[in-house]
Amino acid sequence: MADLNAFMHNQEKKTVDASRKLRIGIIGTGWIAGAHIESYKRQPDVEVVAGADLIPGKAAAFFKDHGVENVKTDYASHKEMLDDESLHLDAVSVCTYNRQHVIPSIYALKKGVNVLLEKPMCVTLDEAIELCRAEKESGKVLSIGFQPRFDANMKMIKRIVESGELGQVYYIQTGGGRRRGIPTPFGTSFIEDKTAGLGALADIGCYSLDMVLNAVGYPKPLTVSGYKSAFFGTDPNYCNYVKTGHPEYAGKFGVDDFAAAFIRLEGGIILDFRIAWAMNINTPGDTIILGTKAGLRIPSTDCWNGSIGGPMTIYRELGGEQIEVPVPVLKQDKDLFDMKIRSFLDASKYGLPAPVPTSQILYNQAILSAIAESSNLGREVEVKIPEI
Ligand SMILES: NC(=O)c1ccc[n+]([C@@H]2O[C@H](COP(=O)([O-])OP(=O)(O)OC[C@H]3O[C@@H](n4cnc5c(N)ncnc54)[C@H](O)[C@@H]3O)[C@@H](O)[C@H]2O)c1
Repeated sequence: MADLNAFMHNQEKKTVDASRKLRIGIIGTGWIAGAHIESYKRQPDVEVVAGADLIPGKAAAFFKDHGVENVKTDYASHKEMLDDESLHLDAVSVCTYNRQHVIPSIYALKKGVNVLLEKPMCVTLDEAIELCRAEKESGKVLSIGFQPRFDANMKMIKRIVESGELGQVYYIQTGGGRRRGIPTPFGTSFIEDKTAGLGALADIGCYSLDMVLNAVGYPKPLTVSGYKSAFFGTDPNYCNYVKTGHPEYAGKFGVDDFAAAFIRLEGGIILDFRIAWAMNINTPGDTIILGTKAGLRIPSTDCWNGSIGGPMTIYRELGGEQIEVPVPVLKQDKDLFDMKIRSFLDASKYGLPAPVPTSQILYNQAILSAIAESSNLGREVEVKIPEI
């Protein structure tokens, strides 16, 4: 209670108690770890004390590049770092590729360390369940790195649904796409099965699902009929492989670059989903939420990464006429990554609930895994999630 009071007091004053520092470690020092370290540098109550990467020397070079000194990096993996009790770690950022999300996170939780795990939560539903159980046993904070959640316009979608303006929501179409956007600027960790496990489906599909599921209160998924393909990623003539001189990436591509699904959710909502890293069209369509009183259109973007493409529109009746009400784009005055990091730090420091809780993201992961499973089996599957 004392911690909660201190947090509320600091929130009112909009200050951070810099007298109590949190000791942070970073596991995996690749591309996204750069955003974590830059945000940690802006937090007055953080000391980044350790970093680990499987590639020898990578962590040391990473901290040097980011101008952060006195960080211990002589670890062969997450395990050695978490075993080093001299570090007295309060929390870690897990910034490893998807297939290495669960092992380091569970290890950290078992060591009593709070975890900010990058999105997607993991690759399979079984892994997600194991992770949620470890979190429950540890009593520590485990938050999943969905920074679009903090966007003022994303929050507006949830407020519109919760206000009752749309009536009863019964159908949602969501997804996003890129014409040519297979992410290989830093190598192949997003496209190889051994590192990524899932492709566009998990990488950007998790954002599309979170945008709408969070708005409607994360109903449980019941059944999924899914499809995935990989026509672009496996083609050595894919334009970006050719432009960057890497036709060999086609042989390494072991995930999906397109996925679609028809999902039934508890409460009678139908979710129609499609996602693409590459496709021969400009957009797979806007996100739409249909309710009995009104509908909401959320414009897509050219390069889907979880942001909203422009003003949203509400379609409804007024005085017997059909009208369209624009929802102005809200100004986002704080950096989303800073909000993601700050909310995790506050939860860790004051024992607050995880800002992006696994109780919700478990359903997101269950859908991703069920789409892959259904596609492999060529039929609809039932989603079965045991008690955690
Ligand atoms: N939130 C966002 O906006 C965002 C953006 C990009 C990537 N991501 C997510 O971040 C994750 C990492 O992506 P990336 O582009 O940084 O990948 P990356 O391949 O550049 O970096 C991952 C690093 O983790 C290291 N690693 C793997 N297992 C390890 C272990 N057990 N111990 C220590 N180091 C280990 C690898 O050697 C590699 O250096 C992915 O899951 C991705 O989906 C999130």
